[in-house]
Amino acid sequence: MGEYRTAFERSITDPTAFWKEAAEEILWRRRPSQILDDANPPFYRWFPDGELNTCENALDRHVDEGRADQPALIYDSPVTGTQRTYTYRALRDEVARFAGALRGLGVAKGDRVVIYMPMVPEGVVAMLACARLGAVHSVVFGGFAPRELAIRIDDAQPKVVVSASCGIEPTRVVAYKPMLDEALELSRHAPERCVILERPEAGADLRPGRDLSWAEAMEGAEPAECVPVLATDPLYVLYTSGTTGRPKGVVRDNGGHAVALRWSMKYVYGIDPGDVFWAASDVGWVVGHSYIVYAPLLHGCTTVLYEGKPVGTPDAGAFWRVVAEHGVRALFTAPTAIRAIKKEDPEGKHLASYDLSRFETLFLAGERLDPDTYHWAVRILDRPVIDHWWQTESGWPMAANLRGLDPMPVKAGSPTVPVPGYDLHVVDGSGGDVPRGTEGDIVVGLPLPPGNLPTVWGADERFVESYLSRYPGYYLTGDGGFIDEDGYLWVMGRTDDVINVAGHRLSTGSMEEVIAAHPAVAECAVIGVHDELKGQMPRGFVVLKAGADVDEGDLRDELLVAVREQVGAVAAMRDVAVVPALPKTRSGKILRGTMRGIAEGKDEPVPSTIEDASVLDQLRPILLGRD
Ligand code: COA
Ligand code: AMP
Repeated sequence: MGEYRTAFERSITDPTAFWKEAAEEILWRRRPSQILDDANPPFYRWFPDGELNTCENALDRHVDEGRADQPALIYDSPVTGTQRTYTYRALRDEVARFAGALRGLGVAKGDRVVIYMPMVPEGVVAMLACARLGAVHSVVFGGFAPRELAIRIDDAQPKVVVSASCGIEPTRVVAYKPMLDEALELSRHAPERCVILERPEAGADLRPGRDLSWAEAMEGAEPAECVPVLATDPLYVLYTSGTTGRPKGVVRDNGGHAVALRWSMKYVYGIDPGDVFWAASDVGWVVGHSYIVYAPLLHGCTTVLYEGKPVGTPDAGAFWRVVAEHGVRALFTAPTAIRAIKKEDPEGKHLASYDLSRFETLFLAGERLDPDTYHWAVRILDRPVIDHWWQTESGWPMAANLRGLDPMPVKAGSPTVPVPGYDLHVVDGSGGDVPRGTEGDIVVGLPLPPGNLPTVWGADERFVESYLSRYPGYYLTGDGGFIDEDGYLWVMGRTDDVINVAGHRLSTGSMEEVIAAHPAVAECAVIGVHDELKGQMPRGFVVLKAGADVDEGDLRDELLVAVREQVGAVAAMRDVAVVPALPKTRSGKILRGTMRGIAEGKDEPVPSTIEDASVLDQLRPILLGRD
């Protein structure tokens, strides 16, 4: 534990020296003379006078430093039956050209570009092209419906939107362009231009004057050079679900992000330049931003972009095939993907078909890693399986078993220890540290390390209110848990109304907004309840308006379709029940936590603040599925 302990202590007692050293790994156009600007707490800025370009660090520098012919990105798409490899040189050239195309459409430093794409290389190219110009990308996950896309377009106010004609799910082709058109009908903000990648699986109606195809945009585009930006300038905005239906635009800066991500590849993941690293996620999520795109490229690795699923494309051996075929050293995915494989191939028979000799470590994050899944993965893989904990706001791991320092014994169910830079505490309601082994709110002492969100897009006060005001001097993670006698962290789940469905972070608030908009609904609550495969699934409860004359079965179907069409298929809402009333506190707050506890079969105490305990008694059989 010595190496880890020394690094951790140093990162907390002397963060400036610690991150100054880490910043040596980055190519600066102007080296930062100041490491941390702490003059305006609770706002902190890393490397405030440094200048760099993130795309230059991810691509050009590796071309110049001898990796030009090394694969930078391997696109592996079982859903289309294609594979394509880009060397660092080829990816740099493609990105430079698309950056030129964007520049031709008027995109300049500081402008926003929304990217709504399936898992195709052009999505990555578009992200890096924005970085090259100093423009700010905002990627919206393809599984989100038009309404969610519109909300993000209105907040980010992009000059250009980059999208595709379609995404490909195992059972259907998902037409993206009509969803984009619908989103643009719904949004108040109108981007000047839309660039649409036309895929062979579906056409796209291009609106003259506004839309142009990817091919047209690229035609004759001159490669653009890297534009230096301040370390504190935004690289991207990524919207994440909060407690309300209004997502928060997590801002990522350029300098802190590059420094932290590169550091994490070596010390958290134990990966060397030249290695093949595969994050089986989606570029629409933070895991995709950080560990499909930026970190592996900043570190000179080969990254894999996989357009497929863990099962069904074509079978439960898909992940092992990709690992073997591309010589993957470390795979990062969500526990739900492993549970899906386990369900279909409980004995891991598919493994025998593949040569996994170069595969060293499986990393899991995005939701709690339940001990059953952990033990199963260790048994069939016979390699280290590493749980680690982080979130969109942090951008990189906050707790992990650090493979590049000295790895520690694993305790199944714990993501191990705080990563250097993260001064983790577990506090009670008054903000005091709780004794070891006692549950409370997990918080991080300020300043947050580089790479973490410096603010919420266009809303400094929302940043303070959502994350910093509950416990002054600390950042509120939104997770509850405890630290045990050995200093291991145990994350028990969210303390707010955020839920996690198959590794997708969703807001119950946005589902409630959709349900509440139905004319027959007086009020409603959505809670996330435990699910064997997906971790959690949303369940809705509605109270009808007095005199509402509706067939309950029809209403249920209508509400499920509405959530699917307005939030997205990923919400996977399958269950809405009509109930006589919702349990509330005397001040009118719906007791969602109590409902969730009962639905999960816990011996949930009746809160002393409840307005009418008989409401809970009536609801109990419905929550338990015994009505
Ligand atoms: N575009 C459009 N639709 C999408 C989509 C996308 N990018 N991603 C998912 N969807 C749709 C799916 O087609 C599905 O629709 P359906 O209801 O018509 O079947 C729905 O959203 C739910 O998808 P998904 O969450 O993928 O569930 P699933 O039941 O199809 O598969 C798993 C279950 C566990 C195999 C799958 O969720 C999985 O691979 N999870 C890994 C999670 C992950 O990578 N998380 C990222 C954080 S690390
Ligand atoms: P996201 O912002 O989508 O990455 O989701 C972050 C949330 O997922 C965290 O706040 C946690 O609630 C949950 N989470 C992520 N990783 C883990 C983990 N290893 N263990 C438990 N919960 C996790």
